[in-house]
Amino acid sequence: MHPSQIPALRGFWYPLVRVEELDAGPVAQRLLGVDLVLWKDADGAPAVARDRCPHRTAKLSKGFVENGNIVCGYHGWAFGRDGKCVRIPQRAEPAATGGKMGVAAFHARAYAGHVWVALDSPRADIPVFAEDGDPAWRRIPEFAENWACGALRLMENEFDNAHIEFVHQATFGNTRDPAPAENEIEEFADGFVARSVVRAANRNIGADYTGLATGATTRTTVHRWWVPFLRKLDLEFPNGLRHRIVTATVPVDDTHTRLVQWVYRNDTDADVPAAKAIAFDRAVTLEDKAVLETVDPETPLRAYLTAERHMPSDKPGLIMRRMLLALAEGG
Ligand code: FES
Ligand SMILES: [Fe+2]
Repeated sequence: MHPSQIPALRGFWYPLVRVEELDAGPVAQRLLGVDLVLWKDADGAPAVARDRCPHRTAKLSKGFVENGNIVCGYHGWAFGRDGKCVRIPQRAEPAATGGKMGVAAFHARAYAGHVWVALDSPRADIPVFAEDGDPAWRRIPEFAENWACGALRLMENEFDNAHIEFVHQATFGNTRDPAPAENEIEEFADGFVARSVVRAANRNIGADYTGLATGATTRTTVHRWWVPFLRKLDLEFPNGLRHRIVTATVPVDDTHTRLVQWVYRNDTDADVPAAKAIAFDRAVTLEDKAVLETVDPETPLRAYLTAERHMPSDKPGLIMRRMLLALAEGG
């Protein structure tokens, strides 16, 4: 089942870009097949509307921001954050058009350094990340980029302990030790938490990133998934380092996914420079990308138990499929 076949997905928050990316002017993004323009209003708050001028369909993202309004670069019509047309340079009184000249506007919020967007009234709040703004933690933005794969395929992969030894053998995997760490799973109405202790190779850029000198280590993981496409992975290393990864696998459309990821760490840049923390996660994500772009973008939901063959380590992904199916069927 593709994201476009689950209308309820429109009622969730998705992070799309870093807040400061809007400082240079309007930004184009696509979410669930809808082309969007994002910009900052007069108060500096993010705003989002359909990226299509109602006059002659020009992309508003090619225009500019003036007094907090998005202005079309073609004939200068201007729209407020609610999508209403506030100025038509060629006529004195845009309000006299009865609001017919407006553009669809959506929900936008700044949180954790990112602009989050929901297309319909949000069904749930953005989860609170207690580390955000806490001086004991630093936030390091990592990635915001589109991959040619399905959003659920990418999210399932995050919880799949069996792929590590193969896909990640150049970073932290070990093909001589392929038994996947078991997940202990606790389900909630809005997702689950999976706990495991993963054996991990610790070499080269991996050792740079943990600050550990040993050739192997363990990652004690507490891994939360929120319906539909958000996770937070808490990695704890034996030296006390916590590396907490927030990842959204945002459905751009049915065959493309925007990977948006940042981390919270309880060390400092003097311990491990941000660039080294990013370099390891960069290498790991590129290993995932190489394989995930070869997988069918569509994930079976209606027949998820029979359409593919499974093994015990696939359980987190099967729970995701069950919960997304419930969402698709009105749950
Ligand atoms: S196309 Fe936008 S103002 Fe004409
Ligand atoms: Fe992976």
